[in-house]
Amino acid sequence: MASSADFKRNTVVNNNINSVAARAHTNIALIKYWGKRDEKLYLPTSTSLSLTLDSLYTDTRVSFDNDLDKDVLYINGELQDEKSTEKVVKVINLFRCRYVADDSPYIRVESYNHVPTAAGLASSSSGFAALSFALRALFENQYLPESDSIDLMNDTELSAFARQGSGSATRSIFGGFVEWVYGTGSSDSVAVPIDDGDWDVAMILAAVSTQRKKISSTYGMKHTAETSAFYPLWKQVSEEDLRVVREGIAERDIDKIGAAMEANCMKFHATMFAANPPFTYLTARSFEIIEYVHELRDSGLSVYFTMDAGPNVKILCRKSERQEIHDKIAQRFADITLFDAASGPAPHIMRDETWDE
Ligand code: DP6
Repeated sequence: MASSADFKRNTVVNNNINSVAARAHTNIALIKYWGKRDEKLYLPTSTSLSLTLDSLYTDTRVSFDNDLDKDVLYINGELQDEKSTEKVVKVINLFRCRYVADDSPYIRVESYNHVPTAAGLASSSSGFAALSFALRALFENQYLPESDSIDLMNDTELSAFARQGSGSATRSIFGGFVEWVYGTGSSDSVAVPIDDGDWDVAMILAAVSTQRKKISSTYGMKHTAETSAFYPLWKQVSEEDLRVVREGIAERDIDKIGAAMEANCMKFHATMFAANPPFTYLTARSFEIIEYVHELRDSGLSVYFTMDAGPNVKILCRKSERQEIHDKIAQRFADITLFDAASGPAPHIMRDETWDE
C-alpha cells in the first residue's frame, strides 16, 4: 500500500487541502473515437490517437464544501443546471467510491475553458481531464493520510476515470501523441503516451464557428453506430489508418501522418453521411478551408486537415512552417479566428498561476 500518515500529493493550492485546482490541455484526434461498445463505462469501438495541444486548456478547481447539499458545477462563472452537471457528478462518485469516501462533503467544481465550449474545439477533453486530475489530488490529500488501505492512483488508472466523463478526455491525461487503447474492459481501456511531439509538428485551429453544436458528439456517435450503413466498416478501416499514423510518428514523417489523418477524417464523416437519417457537422465554410488546404499543399507546404463534431477545421503542419501557413489562411479568410498550437503537456496542479476568470 502506498499510503502513509504524512502523505500529501505535492499539489495543494494555497496550502488549503479542501481545494485543489488543475489545468489540462485539449487534444485533437488524428484517428477518431466514434462509438461506444459500452455506454455506461465509455468503452470505445476502436482505438483512437491524438495530439495534446499547448495553447488550449481548461482550469478546474474542486473544493469540499460543507455548506452544499449537492455537487455543483460552474463553467466560466455560470452555475450549470442538473442535466449539465450529471456527468460531472458521475465522475465525482467514481472518486468517492475509489477512496471509500461515500460520506465525503459535496463538491464545488469551478471550470474555466480557455477554449470555446462545445464547439468542436475539444473542451470536453480538457474539461474532464482537469476535473479528474484535480479530484485525484483532492481525495488523496484528504483521505490517504487517514488510511492504510487506499492505493495511490497512477495516471493510467486516472485516464480510465476521466474516460467515464468523456471519452476524448482519456487522452488528455498525457501530453504529446497519445493513444486511447481499445482494451479488454474498463481497467485497460486507457491512455498510453507514445511520443512527446517535441519536434517539427504543429496545428492551427480554424474556428469557423464557436457556437454550441446542435448535435452533441455523444448523440452523434450513438446515432451513427446504430444506423449508419458504413459503420460496420469503421473499426477495420480506422485500424489501418492508425497503423500508418503510428509509423509516421515513429518516423517523424509529417506527410505520412497527415495523409492518413485526413483519410481517417473523411471516413469518419462518411459514416454520418450514411446514417439514417443522415447528418453532418461540415459546412460550406469548412469545405472552403479544406479546398484552401489542398491549394497550400499543391504549393509545396506540408499541410493537412482534420475535423471533429463541428464545422471547425484543424490543420496539421510543420512547426517551422506554421507562421507562413497561418498568415496565408488569415489573409484568405479574414473573418475566421485562428488558434496556433503545438504539442502540449500533461495536466498539472495549479499552484502559483492566478485564476483568469
Ligand atoms: C469527434 O469525447 O466528446 O471529437 O465520450 O460521448 O463525451 P463522449 O464524446 P466525446 O467525443 C469526441 C469525438 C470526436 C473524436 C475524438 O476526439 O476522438
